[in-house]
Amino acid sequence: MRLILIGFGNVGQGLAQILHDKAEDLKNRHGFEAQIVGVATGSRGIIAHHAGLAIPDLLDAISTDNFDHYPYSDGLRRYDDAVQMIRETQADVLVEASPTNLNTAQPALAHIEAALATGKHIVTANKGPIARDLPHLRQLAQAKQLQIRFEATVMAGTPSIATGIELLAGCTIKEARGILNGTTNYILTQMENGLSYQAALQQAQELGYAETDPTADVEGWDAAAKVLILLAGVFGKQAQVSDLAVTGITGITQADIENAKQAGERYKLIASATPHGGSVQPVRLPLSNPLAHVGGATNAITFATDLMGDITLIGAGAGKLETGSALLADLLAIHRLRPV
Ligand code: HSE
Repeated sequence: MRLILIGFGNVGQGLAQILHDKAEDLKNRHGFEAQIVGVATGSRGIIAHHAGLAIPDLLDAISTDNFDHYPYSDGLRRYDDAVQMIRETQADVLVEASPTNLNTAQPALAHIEAALATGKHIVTANKGPIARDLPHLRQLAQAKQLQIRFEATVMAGTPSIATGIELLAGCTIKEARGILNGTTNYILTQMENGLSYQAALQQAQELGYAETDPTADVEGWDAAAKVLILLAGVFGKQAQVSDLAVTGITGITQADIENAKQAGERYKLIASATPHGGSVQPVRLPLSNPLAHVGGATNAITFATDLMGDITLIGAGAGKLETGSALLADLLAIHRLRPV
């Protein structure tokens, strides 16, 4: 499988690392061999090679500074424009892992459209295009018999999307509800442990959970984007962020956290999607509620279904290898459907 990676930050590097470390295992267990033929970053270079780029050299170059440090070989091409690289590079799948823009979905949307137009499947960790434009992108993909997969956009490799769309396909899902933002859950947990808001946010950034601009996390917009993705993906309902009631955690003070603690309760930022709409709100939960015990950067989602009752997944919702794992799961899903 020939891959183009857009974005080579935490998530893109995580996927590259996994593909390198697990190459033997993936080949033996799944007959899966991946080759990275193009990588684009926002400010650190765009390179492609039809015979494949060496993952250790990519990781070395980026840790040194940028792709100018990638060793030259015959056939190596450097670009200024990611869309041009996507159009001119033969590949099976485009992996979109550039920073999310929840307002415009750009430039990821242009990358995805260029890839679909040139016959590439899409695997994305980028929430913007899925939250805003899933029906449109599905149409483009279906017209060319291509897949668009987005497991990494909600709860990293904890399989919320596959569960909601594929595994529970025979159930009617009445609500998907849970803790969908790791940064805010981490901050709330650390504040309960006595840390200041700022120190906890800085830790979440250092640990790689927070968005490039963490306002999206703390104001609830990241969780709201995930609600839009669940609405579109699981409930087939296209909505806009203005259709949701969204409140973040910036209004919650240390005193609020202390008061809740004294009363045997905890604040959690709860996201909800139903066939009728969605919301993101801080909620004070009693300790008898299982979601109150989901601490740190961990996420959780409960699917309330007709045939199965409630099904809850608890697991990582962010992180380098955790999100890389979701991208890999989607690549393997595409691989399983390819003719041998
Ligand atoms: N910033 C997000 C979080 C990353 O904290 O959950 C995963 O979407």
